[in-house]
Amino acid sequence: MNPFLFVANFKMNPVSPSEIEQYIQVLKRETEGKEWQHTKGVLCPSLLHIAYFHSLPESFFLGAQHGFPEKTGAYTGEVSYAMLKNSGVEYVVIGHSERRQYFGETNETVRIRTESALKFLLKPIVCIGETESELANGRREQVLTEQIASVLKGLSKMQAEKIIFAYEPRFAIGTGITPTTEDLKEVYSLIQRLLVQYLGETTAERVCVLYGGSVKAGNLEEVALSVGMNGVLVGKESLSPYEVVKMMDLAEKYKEEKLAY
Ligand code: PGA
Repeated sequence: MNPFLFVANFKMNPVSPSEIEQYIQVLKRETEGKEWQHTKGVLCPSLLHIAYFHSLPESFFLGAQHGFPEKTGAYTGEVSYAMLKNSGVEYVVIGHSERRQYFGETNETVRIRTESALKFLLKPIVCIGETESELANGRREQVLTEQIASVLKGLSKMQAEKIIFAYEPRFAIGTGITPTTEDLKEVYSLIQRLLVQYLGETTAERVCVLYGGSVKAGNLEEVALSVGMNGVLVGKESLSPYEVVKMMDLAEKYKEEKLAY
């Protein structure tokens, strides 16, 4: 069984180094003595703050929100996946809807980045999901099919199984509104169907699928755990280390109870 992956996306927060230091201190204190068996945390601070996270509590790994696919070169302002890997980063978020919306990322740039991230031994967390108007026009299935097919194009099964997909419908990001459990179950099985179609059953089973968009402790069960999602991608609520620990505890307890059956 894949562990439940809790991915914290800090976005462009916080603004001062002292807040970051305090975050880490609280996280270390709150996780002391905890031994999660079925839950793993991935913290994705801003690129500037990555160096602060060199020593993390057990069960936590370092992720980045962004990176550049070329290894080195004349790309002013960019940070490469190779640099990230060499700085202790293990996961990288690719194709977040904010990057698609504000920074011109497309299915094609997401494909190139995913391929490069895999080459530099990073685990890509590839965001997929429809916009409000695509949802309103009944295009969800088509959008998800195109996004998934494009990312997997040209990858071997061994590469593909390392990808983590994060389903994030645009209307749910930062709004406090989430899809219903029933709706998410439908999306989850659509994604599974597509993965089986492109990769075959054995590989498809190994691919993790996360849910993201207004996740909090109060809805973790209905949007992720009871849906069968392999984890969550959390923005706003991950800015509190207390909430991170609370949600990871909830996931751990849920998984333990499941296994006890
Ligand atoms: P949110 O963000 O949890 O603040 O809705 C999620 C995301 O953008 O990944």
